[in-house]
Amino acid sequence: MQRRLHHEQPESFAFTPANLAWAEDQIAKYPEGRQASAVIPLLWRAQEQEGWVTRPAIEEVARMLGMAEIRVLEVATFYFMFQLQPVGTVAHVQVCGTTSCMICGAEDLVGVCKEKIAPNPHELSADGKFSWEEVECLGACANAPMAQIGKDYYEDLTTENFAAMLDRFAAGDVPRPGPQNGRWASEPLGGVTSLTGEIFEDANGSVHLASEIGETVKRIDGTEPTATTLMRARGGTPIVMKGAAKPASASSDKPEMLRAARDGKPDDLKKIKGVGPKLEDKLNTMGVFHFDQIAAWTKSDIDWVDDELSFKGRIERDGWVAQAKALMEGNDDA
Ligand code: FES
Repeated sequence: MQRRLHHEQPESFAFTPANLAWAEDQIAKYPEGRQASAVIPLLWRAQEQEGWVTRPAIEEVARMLGMAEIRVLEVATFYFMFQLQPVGTVAHVQVCGTTSCMICGAEDLVGVCKEKIAPNPHELSADGKFSWEEVECLGACANAPMAQIGKDYYEDLTTENFAAMLDRFAAGDVPRPGPQNGRWASEPLGGVTSLTGEIFEDANGSVHLASEIGETVKRIDGTEPTATTLMRARGGTPIVMKGAAKPASASSDKPEMLRAARDGKPDDLKKIKGVGPKLEDKLNTMGVFHFDQIAAWTKSDIDWVDDELSFKGRIERDGWVAQAKALMEGNDDA
């Protein structure tokens, strides 16, 4: 399928203040000269903001990242996740048409889309609420046929339950994601034959979380709860996956970080007792280059950095803030 920019384009594009702040944070993750690495996150956020990727959005992302517009256009047209034309205001429905789903009735689901939304993929419904497309395997083959609506998966679909689901979306309701035929997850249709222990939740983990968040068809705008805040709301301890970024403690805030040392001249952070070359490297990577940054840390800033470095209180024990203040005043014996 040819992927071209839509024939009708808006005049301009600007990130909302919240999305702009988020985009700048993404850009700051990459070393100087490597800002182009943020192209996919920025395009994605632009899509979340507008519903689709517009030409002005591509131009703005190129400007923000110092890239040639053609390079950003290449990315936007290469990846099918980027919608190059307006999508439904309520939802863009993605029906999986790959082998398992096709065998189990995906073509009938496409028929429902044609009848209830629009005759052709990527066309808006008459009321502008929906659009649809057929996509490649979404990795839920054991629950075929299925469709992704907004952020969530709707599985074990039939023409009847799928059509009814679209009606509910149109009426402003959000049907519960997951299997629609009574299955809990992807156990055999006849019920589980192993691992028959008690199931505590009324839905599998993905469905439970999706229902709890309740943002199936809401576009990302920066107000989403994180996994950590959800866990805390439940009174639980955040789970940290091996290798994942460690969540900050409940009372911590990320202190202001810099993308690079001012004037290219970082302070010698090793002058702080307890900071060696390796730790100095880590601090620089986080965006800490100067004594005055550390001197300005509040308790919640300290907690955040402490969490990031798994220090268990070492910053306070070693008195980094007092040391940094003394070093700012030129007292090297801090
Ligand atoms: Fe449809 Fe894999 S074939 S989810």
